Amino acid sequence: MKGYSKRYWAKRASQYDKTNWVKDKKFIDAFLDMIPNNKFNSILEVGIGTGAIAEKVFEKYGPLTGIDISKEMISNINHPGVTPIIGDAHDLPFEDSSFKLIYMRNVLHYLDDPVLAFSEIYRCLKSNGYFLLSQVIPPNNSISKEYDWLVGRNIHYPTEREIKIIFPDFSNLKQDIFILKNQSIINWLNHTCNNDSQKQKIISRHRQTSDTYKTLANFIDTKNDILVDIRHIMIIGTNESI
Ligand SMILES: C[S@@+](CC[C@H](N)C(=O)[O-])C[C@H]1O[C@@H](n2cnc3c(N)ncnc32)[C@H](O)[C@@H]1O
Repeated sequence: MKGYSKRYWAKRASQYDKTNWVKDKKFIDAFLDMIPNNKFNSILEVGIGTGAIAEKVFEKYGPLTGIDISKEMISNINHPGVTPIIGDAHDLPFEDSSFKLIYMRNVLHYLDDPVLAFSEIYRCLKSNGYFLLSQVIPPNNSISKEYDWLVGRNIHYPTEREIKIIFPDFSNLKQDIFILKNQSIINWLNHTCNNDSQKQKIISRHRQTSDTYKTLANFIDTKNDILVDIRHIMIIGTNESI
């Protein structure tokens, strides 16, 4: 599991909602705006985490199920309209054609086999069902390696180009880009990293990055913090032509 196992999420669960982007209203609104105003009587979130986005989906579309590998992450969910269950995106415990809407936000980079997970999602969608993906990506394809190094987690952040390659089964694709502006690196590190020397390493990597990255990310060094823009791709598609 790329080292980001259940133990990793167990440690992050109590701090997760304090990371600024998780409940950012503009980000959640932009995500919800991607979904058509249809009635969905069967909805699944893959990698639901603490349910940060699920509660908003419930308010707009009704009850949903959420699956996640981490029992600690889903133990934060306490909402009558959201049913959390433990399970793996690579092996969804649902019958074929179970859901009219499936969505997934910022899970792709933790998956060992995104293609397998996407085929599971495709299998579980009802005919003409929708799949919405939102995923953090590097500011552009050309600095992918530098971005992985900068984040410092031995993890590959898929580029826009790579994501489009694993989307071919879906039709009627629509996409948008959402930029989270002026995101605090200190806030992110304080809630995702317990090791002080690791924190210092990542801060100094940010200061050493290329001018290309700094320009693309609108990098601001305030001495006490570093602020950067973080790019997300949002893509929605259906499992057949509608
Ligand atoms: C960055 S969090 C995103 C949570 C939520 N989607 C959100 O936007 O706030 C990633 C989540 O993916 C879950 N996850 C990682 N690998 C998974 C897998 N193979 N199957 C299901 N969930 C997984 C983690 O436990 C974690 O809760």
